[in-house]
Amino acid sequence: MYLALFFALATFATANAAYVPGKAFDRFLTIWLENQDFAKASKNAQMEGLIKQGVLLTNYYAHTHPSQPNYIASVGGDYFGMNHDGYMTIPENVSTVVDLFETKGIEWKGYFEGVPGPGYMGEGSTRPDGNGFGYVRKHNPFISYDSINMNGSRLGQLQSLMSFQRDVAANTVPQYAHISPDMLNDGHDTSLEFAANWTDSFLAPLLNNEEVMKNTLILLTYDESETYPIPNKIVSLLLGNAIPPEKKGTTDNTFYTHYSILSTLQNNWDLPCLGRYDVGANVFDVAAAKTGYRNHPPPNVAAVNNSLSYPGYLNDNPAHRKPIPPPNLRLVGAGGVGVDEGIFAVWSSLAGELTPYDGSGRVDDGGTSLTLGNTPIYKAQAPAPAVTVMEGPTEPTGAVTTAKRSRGSKAQVIDGTWMAFLFGLYGVLMFVSY
Ligand SMILES: *[C@@H]1O[C@H](CO)[C@@H](O)[C@H](O)[C@H]1NC(C)=O
Ligand SMILES: *[C@@H]1O[C@H](CO)[C@@H](O)[C@H](O)[C@H]1NC(C)=O
Ligand SMILES: *[C@@H]1O[C@H](CO)[C@@H](O)[C@H](O)[C@H]1NC(C)=O
Ligand SMILES: *[C@@H]1O[C@H](CO)[C@@H](O)[C@H](O)[C@H]1NC(C)=O
Repeated sequence: MYLALFFALATFATANAAYVPGKAFDRFLTIWLENQDFAKASKNAQMEGLIKQGVLLTNYYAHTHPSQPNYIASVGGDYFGMNHDGYMTIPENVSTVVDLFETKGIEWKGYFEGVPGPGYMGEGSTRPDGNGFGYVRKHNPFISYDSINMNGSRLGQLQSLMSFQRDVAANTVPQYAHISPDMLNDGHDTSLEFAANWTDSFLAPLLNNEEVMKNTLILLTYDESETYPIPNKIVSLLLGNAIPPEKKGTTDNTFYTHYSILSTLQNNWDLPCLGRYDVGANVFDVAAAKTGYRNHPPPNVAAVNNSLSYPGYLNDNPAHRKPIPPPNLRLVGAGGVGVDEGIFAVWSSLAGELTPYDGSGRVDDGGTSLTLGNTPIYKAQAPAPAVTVMEGPTEPTGAVTTAKRSRGSKAQVIDGTWMAFLFGLYGVLMFVSY
């Protein structure tokens, strides 16, 4: 009963969100599976079936090992040196894609199979069969950011996979959604075949749902590869009706990482950027081909390995700990816009500090256990270097010269404080009902 009340309120709170058409797609869903090498996953029978219906990205690299930093990176534009799956939080002054969406009122949600309730902050939940974890915090990219977990209305957007099926039935799937299946269905505690079977059965009705698929782009990806000592290449596959029919069943050999999710979203919706590794990351060609955005391989492409984490704030080795770097406030992202106004306000006092984010698309990693080849290089904050693209007209990639920061209209019906209160009330009622 209380649950129903909560859902009614949550639905009311988000029902009036703006609908913002994109340049290449109007909705983006991303589904995350676990721990498979490109070579093996691309040869799985079920995956091959799906590959025929989409665009296979053949040069897509995860960032490091193990899982958690890859999820964290995909929404915040860095993993801050993280090299573990343990409990941690990221300070409130670090922004995410959620802040970018809110500049335009684009509705977003995360759906997590097995999560005990909306906005649940624990480490995980026990599987229905009692054997091990179902939902895990380490596979939730949003929950560890204080800018999300300290805000009731944002927490309320982190829901279960049952909510997703309800939203599908009601045709109210938001314009951006991250989906993490549980530890069985994502393959973590099972196998490549098991997860591919689940994916096939999850996607088949969705791909046939014309309402939900209308100008929708789906990214099916793995978080990281299985074999740690080889470069971290994974299968990522684009699906959905936003893909032109002639591109279905083709491959795209452009270099991508999970940061390409951020740059693609910025490019599609003219969003501001985070001023971190999101800037300079290649935009998925299905979007770039429509917007005219020029992609290029990272300057250090030959050395990319992405098997170890560089030092940083979240490294569990005290000798490898460093402060969170300031964003580069002079960068312009793939949306043609500078750093988000809110980020600028928080970090402008550090505009004179060095930063590893240079907008060049260089891929930083922890090198190998013997060398520190791609360790971040700190430099003064400056606009991205102009890139000469070999073929075609030579225009700078993403290095748009006009920097403007814009904050669109907000379409919030209930403000954060009120929503936090409702959320707290819900928590108390749930507690009392036990
Ligand atoms: C996957 O599905 C196929 C075909 O339905 C079935 O033969 C196979 O046993 C399934 N594999 C797993 C691991 O569930
Ligand atoms: C960001 O937050 C951290 C942790 O609270 C703090 O140490 C740091 O000074 C803050 N930086 C800025 C620029 O606000
Ligand atoms: C990638 O990094 C891992 C971990 O340090 C190392 O074992 C491996 O040799 C590296 N591979 C290449 C191709 O550099
Ligand atoms: C909390 O989230 C809401 C909606 O997501 C947003 O409008 C509000 O600005 C956030 N509040 C804070 C203090 O960040």
